[in-house]
Amino acid sequence: MKQTHGKIGWSNQYKVNIPTLDAQHKQLFNTYTDLNQALKEGLRPSVIKDTLDRLHLYVSRHFTMEEKYMRESGYPGLDQQMEAHTYFSTVFNEILGEFNSEGLTPGIVKKIQNELGQWLTDHVSELDMEFGRFYSTIKKG
Ligand SMILES: [Fe+2]
Repeated sequence: MKQTHGKIGWSNQYKVNIPTLDAQHKQLFNTYTDLNQALKEGLRPSVIKDTLDRLHLYVSRHFTMEEKYMRESGYPGLDQQMEAHTYFSTVFNEILGEFNSEGLTPGIVKKIQNELGQWLTDHVSELDMEFGRFYSTIKKG
C-alpha cells in the first residue's frame, strides 16, 4: 500500500468502465480533493465539516448504487465488498463523531488525510476494479 499523504486525485487509471460508477467515483475523488485543499488552506472548521458531510453523503449513495450493480449482476464478490463498505462507513462515522465532539483536532486532520484518502484509493483500484472486470465479461455473455 503506497502512502498518499492526502495527495489523491481522480485519474483514468481508476476507471472500472461502468459509467455510472465511474462518475460517482470521480465525484468522491473530487470531493476528497476539495476537502484536502480546504485543510491545506486552513479554512474554517465549519467549511471542513460541510465538505466532510458532503463526502459522507456521496459515499453512502455510492455504496448503495455499487452494491445494487453487484447484486443484479450476480457478482460473487458482493459479500466481500459489503464488508469493505461497512468497514469504511464505520471509520467514517467515527471520524464524524470525533469531529462533532472535539472539533477539528490535529488527530482528525491526520485521519482524514491518511485513512479516508488511502482507503478510497486502495478500494477503487483493487476491489472495485475486480468488479469492473467481472462486469465486462458478463455484458458480453
Ligand atoms: Fe466498492
